[in-house]
Amino acid sequence: MQAMANELVGAAHAENLLGVGEHRRNFQRLSRLFDEGAVELSKAREVVDMMDLAYGREGLFESRRRELSKQLAAQNALFRIRSNASLINNLSGSFAGNAERILSAERDKTTSAIGFAKIVILATGVGAVLIALASAMFVARYVTANITSISNAMMRLAQGDRATRLPQKLAANDEIGILQRSFRVFRANALRLDRMNQRLNRQNALFERVFLNITDGVAITDPEGRLTAVNPSFSKTLRLDPSLNPVGAEIQVVLRSSILAENKSNWRFDESFAGFSEIHGDNGLVIEIRRNALPEGGGVWLFSDATERRQVQDRLRQIQHIEGLGKVAGEVAHDFGNILSSIASNVHLVEQSRTNAQTDTYFYRMRNALEIGTSLVQRLLAFAKKQALMPEVIDLNELIAGLIDLIEVSLKDGVALETQPGVGPNYVLADPGQLESAILNLCLNADQSIKSAGRIRVSIRRPDKSTTVVSVTDTGSGMDKATQLRAFEPFFSTRSGENGTGLGLAMVYGFMKQSGGDAAICSKCGIGTKVSLSFPTAQVASETPREIASGQTALLVEDDPDTMRQTASCLENEGFSVTPASTLEGAMTHLDKIEHLDLLVTDLNLDDGKTGWPLVKQCEDKFADCQIIVVSGRLPERFFDGCEQLKARTVALVEKPFSQEKLESALQGRRCGACA
Ligand SMILES: Nc1ncnc2c1ncn2[C@@H]1O[C@H](COP(=O)(O)OP(=O)(O)O)[C@@H](O)[C@H]1O
Ligand SMILES: [Mg+2]
Repeated sequence: MQAMANELVGAAHAENLLGVGEHRRNFQRLSRLFDEGAVELSKAREVVDMMDLAYGREGLFESRRRELSKQLAAQNALFRIRSNASLINNLSGSFAGNAERILSAERDKTTSAIGFAKIVILATGVGAVLIALASAMFVARYVTANITSISNAMMRLAQGDRATRLPQKLAANDEIGILQRSFRVFRANALRLDRMNQRLNRQNALFERVFLNITDGVAITDPEGRLTAVNPSFSKTLRLDPSLNPVGAEIQVVLRSSILAENKSNWRFDESFAGFSEIHGDNGLVIEIRRNALPEGGGVWLFSDATERRQVQDRLRQIQHIEGLGKVAGEVAHDFGNILSSIASNVHLVEQSRTNAQTDTYFYRMRNALEIGTSLVQRLLAFAKKQALMPEVIDLNELIAGLIDLIEVSLKDGVALETQPGVGPNYVLADPGQLESAILNLCLNADQSIKSAGRIRVSIRRPDKSTTVVSVTDTGSGMDKATQLRAFEPFFSTRSGENGTGLGLAMVYGFMKQSGGDAAICSKCGIGTKVSLSFPTAQVASETPREIASGQTALLVEDDPDTMRQTASCLENEGFSVTPASTLEGAMTHLDKIEHLDLLVTDLNLDDGKTGWPLVKQCEDKFADCQIIVVSGRLPERFFDGCEQLKARTVALVEKPFSQEKLESALQGRRCGACA
């Protein structure tokens, strides 16, 4: 039993399944001993208990076996776990190795990739920097330069330089291009504006010129009738004080202080006036007044001095009237002349066969009446432009010179006669006898208009190349307007009785018209009268071929080198061999030396206040045939002023600037300008 228990205990403590089996087999063997009855009965119970304990499913051996099996299984499992763990370890080691390798390979790859990436990044960076630089340069060169050039051009354009342009490159299709195109549009607009401005300025300037220079007075008034603008002719036309500016004043007040106020009529020119009116003043003054209302109130006033126009119209009417009278006079004179000549021939026949001496007185009276009638007829024919004229080319200077004596004896004491010949010869085509009679007639009229003492001047001038005028001016009573208008009418006379036939001026008028000229009167009461006879200048110089003075000698005295050169070449063109002298002394010395001289041309005012007259005098004394021309920028009022001792002879006075034409006319009219 003990052994069985030991076996049980041994089994319980067995370390392995073999030990358990061993103990079991030992127990079984012992238990079989028990079965064989070797064991005392007292102990049988305990053995059965021990057997219960030992066998069965829950018996010790089985439990121990199961426990050991489980231990074994656990150990196996542990082992397997361990082996698996080692496997896993190995695997993980190899995996880690692989992974390491792969990683290292990847690392290598990554490193090279990074290296490449670095290079790429670097290259990209460099590229980017280069691009940035290029862009910067592009911006600097293209954008900035273009913008600068455009903005500069804009500034120049804004400052008024319209010639400014952009380079004529094709504009790109970018913002710069848009800017350039904008600039061109801007410039085109600026130019168009300029043109418009210029047009406006021109128009303004034109309006201003018209406003400033129009001979009519223009005034603009506001709705209250105050002057807001006037032109210079306003004050002139209305004879206002030119130093006063009427702007701001009421037009009514201004007009009341003007020449219009002298008019007696009851005029009322204020803002209520509209349309046209005219005011007549003394001495034929006529002022026309027009006012147009402005849409916004106020008005534009126009004051026109129509005096001259009216005079011209009056003159035209006068001419028409005289022409009409001329026709009648011509017809009457013609028929009356025939009657007179028939009476005259019959009177002559009766006179031949007269028997009674007493009839002599009757015949004498008849002859007188016939002479008066014939003279009347002749004068009427002259007025009617129907007298027989024998025109020829005459130099007016010569004609007047020859008439002076006759005029002088016809004038009353106290009346002085002055003549003022024209420069150079003054050729006209006229009947010399009738012209003399016309001038004489004018002088007689002038003489009659002078009460006790006064002056009559007969002058000749050429206002232009084509006209030559001879005028008779007196300091007599003058004529009023009505007389002036009718003075040329036949039989119009203000002189009473025998003194006036009213045919003098009528004859003069008819003669002048018949000669292709005209007669005009300019007169002022109390001041005097000027009657002017104007002729077309006769073209004599061009008809006669010019003589070239070949081989002739001339002395030219001139202190100004330029004038000297120019005058010398004019003289040389005429064929003269010229000796120049720049001083009076030099010229005098030359005159002393030479034996012959054809022409002396001397400046009148030489240096040091000396004049050319002593030279003229010496030349005149030494060379009787020498022609003398005195040239001056300031002609003396009268010929030979300052050298009265000179004889009247061949001296021509020529005004500077000297010209070939003036020289030619001075050379041709050798006697022109001769005057005492
Ligand atoms: N020089 C003059 N000065 C003033 N009145 C003049 C002058 N010449 C002419 N008249 C005026 O013209 C009028 C006409 O002149 P005219 O035909 O010569 O006739 P008459 O001398 O016979 O009167 C004169 O009566 C005179 O009133
Ligand atoms: Mg007369």
